[in-house]
Amino acid sequence: MKFFVTGGAGFIGSAFVRMLLDSSTSWSGAAAQRPSLVVNFDKLTYAGNLENLAPVATDARYRFVHGDICDAALVNQTIAEAQPDVIVNFAAESHVDRSILSPAPVFETNLRGTFTLLEAARTHQTPRFLHVSTDEVYGSIPAPQDADENYPLRASSPYSASKAGSDLLALSYFVTYGMPVMVTRASNNYGPYQFPEKLIPLMISNAIEDKPLPIYGDGMQVRDWLYVDDHCRAILSVIERGRAGEIYNIGGSRALPNLEVVECILDTLGKPRSLMQTVKDRPGHDRRYALSTEKLLRETGWRAQMPFEAGLRATIDWYRGNAAWIARVKSGEYQNYYQRNYANRAT
Ligand code: NAD
Ligand code: TYD
Repeated sequence: MKFFVTGGAGFIGSAFVRMLLDSSTSWSGAAAQRPSLVVNFDKLTYAGNLENLAPVATDARYRFVHGDICDAALVNQTIAEAQPDVIVNFAAESHVDRSILSPAPVFETNLRGTFTLLEAARTHQTPRFLHVSTDEVYGSIPAPQDADENYPLRASSPYSASKAGSDLLALSYFVTYGMPVMVTRASNNYGPYQFPEKLIPLMISNAIEDKPLPIYGDGMQVRDWLYVDDHCRAILSVIERGRAGEIYNIGGSRALPNLEVVECILDTLGKPRSLMQTVKDRPGHDRRYALSTEKLLRETGWRAQMPFEAGLRATIDWYRGNAAWIARVKSGEYQNYYQRNYANRAT
């Protein structure tokens, strides 16, 4: 099977590429599903990092193409050459806070980029297209409800609105053109190689450096944490056993308030809780995400394997052991972003 992966230099995309090329990955479908080619098509924005792919860089089945998913000519040329069996679209501007500070690139990549890929897949009749999306499209979900795949879309941020729009666009290609499109909506991911703008890696790296840990508002917002490898295995399950035209939620079944997550990080690192600093809340901040993953379980047999405590410990260990990686990604542009996002948040 030949894979065309976009955004494969980012956090989840790189975990997926590493998993595809890892000989210990188990494939429940036919052996023919094993990858013979993995094309990673990535623009290398601030979030893209080829260091994340060092373990597979010399694998003969792996090919990197430096490109923008909005660049129709390059996308078409690459797909024409590779003739992939499946396109997996991870490429996105993926952060809510950045989407609030600068919405334009979010709409460009998440909407126009997805459109460009869908058009190329239509032209080249790619047999399968999996669009990777997020539970944030459902907006804040009042307790005790869990959102299933039919829950209304109530996106709150430019990021989640752009993902909701791209989901609808992708699904319209199934309805209108009969294209074999599937959409997955995952909850908050965590694990090694995550860019330290998101909650868990930000708090781990700040705590390691004894810097303040900025808690938005009261810190009682709830997120459902999913270990990145569990997410990647779910995507493989959907590629192998999902039905065209369908949406699949992927949740970690571990909903926790932010404060509890941050306290756990501080305790594991042996750092004082006084490092936590309440700051001004995020505008439009969703209070609670909670997913029903029942459809995915029923149709593919997938189960999350990593318990949150073990996953968090493994993640903390990875960041402790990769100080040079953190130092490199936190230099340069990151400093400007940090200043813009956190400078005026004192309460
Ligand atoms: P990330 O920000 O770590 O990586 C995004 C990757 O996309 C980077 O390698 C970047 O260079 C690339 N990219 C950005 N714009 C591009 C463009 N125009 N053309 C080509 N490549 C481009 O993101 P992530 O956290 O790995 O998320 C991957 C996907 O999963 C996204 O679609 C995101 O919406 C979705 N998702 C993320 C989470 C999460 O918790 N991180 C949860 C659910 C869904
Ligand atoms: P984040 O990792 O940005 O993911 P998302 O907004 O997509 O859920 O944030 C997770 C939660 O952590 C969210 O409720 C916002 C909160 N948060 C903070 O309290 N402080 C921070 O510095 C960051 C980045 C997030």
